[in-house]
Amino acid sequence: MEFDLPSLNNKDRYKLLTSTIIPRPIALVSTIDEDGTLNCAPYSFFNAFSEDPPVCVLGIQRRPDLKPKDTSRLIRDGGEFVVNLVDMRIAEGMNISAIDFDPEIDEFDLAGFTPVASRKVAPPRIGEAPVAFECRRTVTLQLSAERDLVVGEILHMHAREGLIDPETLYLDRDQYDVVGRLYADLYAPLRDVFQLKRWEPDDYLAAHGLDAAGRPIDNDKT
Ligand SMILES: Cc1cc2nc3c(=O)[nH]c(=O)nc-3n(C[C@H](O)[C@H](O)[C@H](O)COP(=O)(O)O)c2cc1C
Repeated sequence: MEFDLPSLNNKDRYKLLTSTIIPRPIALVSTIDEDGTLNCAPYSFFNAFSEDPPVCVLGIQRRPDLKPKDTSRLIRDGGEFVVNLVDMRIAEGMNISAIDFDPEIDEFDLAGFTPVASRKVAPPRIGEAPVAFECRRTVTLQLSAERDLVVGEILHMHAREGLIDPETLYLDRDQYDVVGRLYADLYAPLRDVFQLKRWEPDDYLAAHGLDAAGRPIDNDKT
């Protein structure tokens, strides 16, 4: 089966992309307006794209009337945002924060989130989140009338106590109940982890009986 993406409508494209590119991490994005009203909402068109500089990207859809969502408007106006990651503990609150409330409603309050002052940016982070990244907007790319891509530089990272070993910087996965988004109303925790060894080229060839050109070594040859 094949799909010619440009000829599909947005709904069908969305369905195909979001049901197959899974699980997607969820950025629960906190922002603040000039009056100090707090806003937060989840975005699963999200990932990290570089560590030098440390960069993350959000894909933000416009509303049906083509006005920007609050997150997009507040990032454009204030230039700063916090990406809070979502674990099982705050999944319900994340879902409440996705409700399309009027901008004057404090979504932190309704979702049961504690705003904690950030170190380098104006919007607070969510105290209950396992990990939070303080970000400054690098650029917003308007890809179409309906779609903004926000590129942000990560300035500061917070991790819940006990999550990351301060010496090795390894994550304690048993403490990290992070949630990924599947499609529609479905989510998945991290389970059934397995390892795939990353090979060096020479190790791989030797372990598989291949010569430098990737051809089987003929051991019977004298
Ligand atoms: C798990 C989840 C992921 C979402 N991901 C996105 C996304 O990537 N892009 C988007 O435009 N909306 C996304 N939404 C919808 C927004 O969260 C929703 O429109 C929200 O009301 C926007 O709030 P805001 O106006 O405060 O920014 C998502 C909703 C949920 C529940």
